Amino acid sequence: MKICLVMGTRPNFMKIASLIDPLSRTDINFFIVHTGQHYDKNMSSDIIKSLFPVEIDYLIKSNIEGEINQFSHIMVEFEKICDFEKPDIVVVPGDVNSTLACSLVASKKNIKIAHLEAGLRSFDRDMPEEINRILTDHLSDILFTTEKSAKINLFKEGIKKEKIIFVGNTMIDSLKKTIDKAIKNKFYEKYRLSSNNYCLLTIHRPSNVDDIDRLKKIIDMINTISKTIKVVFPIHPRTLNSIKLNNININDEIIDIEPLPYLEFLGLMAESKVVITDSGGIQEETTYLGIQCLTIRDNTERPITIEIGTNKLLGSDFEKVKKEVLEITKGKLKKGRIPKYWDGRAGERIVEFLKKHF
Ligand code: UD1
Repeated sequence: MKICLVMGTRPNFMKIASLIDPLSRTDINFFIVHTGQHYDKNMSSDIIKSLFPVEIDYLIKSNIEGEINQFSHIMVEFEKICDFEKPDIVVVPGDVNSTLACSLVASKKNIKIAHLEAGLRSFDRDMPEEINRILTDHLSDILFTTEKSAKINLFKEGIKKEKIIFVGNTMIDSLKKTIDKAIKNKFYEKYRLSSNNYCLLTIHRPSNVDDIDRLKKIIDMINTISKTIKVVFPIHPRTLNSIKLNNININDEIIDIEPLPYLEFLGLMAESKVVITDSGGIQEETTYLGIQCLTIRDNTERPITIEIGTNKLLGSDFEKVKKEVLEITKGKLKKGRIPKYWDGRAGERIVEFLKKHF
């Protein structure tokens, strides 16, 4: 059996990395394709270097203007790789454009598709990721899920139950492997911060950063929050573009920095008092770490982080976010639990399944 592992953006790398060790312990042939959707050093190669014990076999150069251009370029190049390597299974993680682009190619070429993190739904079709998730799930032959809501969503969409395999969260595998080293490094000292005494902010969703009014409101909110607690803000390229184009002013109190390497980001997150985010993965990572998380989105495809985790969904109620931060600084914390199978062994379960069934 030959497996092709696909990854294209920052949050994909941690998920695919979780499969490398378990696969290396078998006689399964595998190779890795990086679609190049994220190409900046700090969005890509720095993170890969810290996570992968093996070389990436193929890198598609896709630093191309225009979403559809990039999408079609990835498809054309990925087809060439498939023709040459002839994999039996293509493993695609998450919900980014690369996930769908490579699933479409695999499907046209009759190659089996295994989707990591299948079945998550925000029920918001304005999100590009929601379309990517639905289409990828419906093209897939094996759907590996992270939480119970996924199975229910997939059933409702008519996906056969034999295809759905609950394995847990591969992102937590990578987190567990890295977290001790991340904490030991005390990265917060680099920014003259003290442990458990600052807020970490990330925003990059088109709904928050391409809508200028909303972005201005978010930055206003953060400017105010920075008077109560120190704020560290690693800025995603999409967000930085928008901030620059629209001359939005970030308060001098805020520590605005480039996107961080994985190890450093994890370290900062684990030692923070509160995280404000619109990311999917960070909602999960804070739940695992027991860190307070305020999500500035109208919905989440990861409801378990709210039901049993430390996450709160606050939409665009920025007054509420300020109030919550204040309460958290006074010690009013949401208690959370770690969801089932978020135990560092999801990658092993996936490889075990593939070994048994193919
Ligand atoms: C993508 C994913 C999103 C994921 C996020 C994580 C899609 C539809 N969205 O959003 O689900 O949560 O990644 O970060 O796939 N850019 C750079 N440098 C880079 C990468 C991108 O400057 O290394 C620029 C691009 O040229 C583009 C913008 O940033 O102008 C956005 O990049 P894009 O890959 O479209 O999506 P993300 O917003 O990163």
